[in-house]
Amino acid sequence: MTTADAKKIVLLPGDGIGPEIVGVAVRVLKDCAAKFGHLFEFAEFPFGGSAIDAAGEPLPPETLAACKSADAILLGAVGGPKWDAQPIGKRPESGLLALRQALGLYINLRPIDLRPSLASLTPLRSDRAKNVHIDFVRELAGDIYFGKHHVEPHASGERAVDEAVYTTGEIERVAQYAFARAEARTGRLASVDKANVMSTSQLWRRTVTRMAAAHPKVKLEHLYVDNAAMQLVLAPAQFDVILTSNMFGDILSDLGAALVGSIGLIPSMSSGRGPSLYEPIHGSAPSLAGKDVACPVGTILSASMMLRESFGLAREAEWIESAVDRLFVNGVRTPDIVGPGTTRVGCQEFGERLLAEMAEAPAPSKTSNV
Ligand code: IPM
Ligand code: MG
Repeated sequence: MTTADAKKIVLLPGDGIGPEIVGVAVRVLKDCAAKFGHLFEFAEFPFGGSAIDAAGEPLPPETLAACKSADAILLGAVGGPKWDAQPIGKRPESGLLALRQALGLYINLRPIDLRPSLASLTPLRSDRAKNVHIDFVRELAGDIYFGKHHVEPHASGERAVDEAVYTTGEIERVAQYAFARAEARTGRLASVDKANVMSTSQLWRRTVTRMAAAHPKVKLEHLYVDNAAMQLVLAPAQFDVILTSNMFGDILSDLGAALVGSIGLIPSMSSGRGPSLYEPIHGSAPSLAGKDVACPVGTILSASMMLRESFGLAREAEWIESAVDRLFVNGVRTPDIVGPGTTRVGCQEFGERLLAEMAEAPAPSKTSNV
């Protein structure tokens, strides 16, 4: 294999626990490359609060340029109390939003699966905690996240405004992905909105309803977001693919993560026009940083999603994911998911044990997985 075949992976470790969890995921990717004969080139760039400190802005131009020419991007997390006093637009999170926008990343896929090996972690009553396999498709480039924000003086003190905006085209492009995803799964698509209150949601519902005619195999239903939150807790198995707007998707996917054990476990893919970006759905957890207690699983599974979705390496992804599952079956747990009869390990040791587990397993044969 020549360097021309190498996949260029840009690393954005970010803040808080970001560098620790990305470090573990990179070791996993390196072992994968060695085992399967791939060439991955890694290049790390400043991003988020650490980039504010180093370069005065959360998304420096060289970081953005590197992301634009990457084959894929692996991100840790951004934010922390150090930058909390900054106005919106100057916070670490604004770098993340600017990056999503600059790369045209309008689809955010967040798979929420209750793994049999971690079934005891669910806060749900046992009869409700069965068959929880939900793909959240969250719109990522519009909504209140990207409308105008401003604060002005007011007789009572101040007046703050956040504008929510959606166009037909923005809804269609993400809905198209969700319909296709539902077609490839069990065919059930739940579209979540607040069409009884918001005009963006009314446009959302009209657009998704119109598109359903072209997808006769998909059973589409609409839910208001308040009802969707309740249904997720009471009867999560009814859901297959959930399509929703940026803000509702942010909130509901954290709820979904809690149902399956820990927010530390959930990966995500953001894709659209530019190279796809992979990141765990959790934050930078400043209180855990530097203590070697963070759960690297969401980031490791984000890396395996990258292999499958961006590079078409399904058997490599499977090799990593099955090793993670075997560790769970053997009771190896980071502090967020430790329980009676299981072994508590730190972030680094989880990584060490995973590499050992992967090394022991034969690489799955091509025909069985691809
Ligand atoms: C997420 C995060 C981000 C979001 C924050 C850090 C801006 O919560 O990816 O879910 O709200 O999109
Ligand atoms: Mg979030």
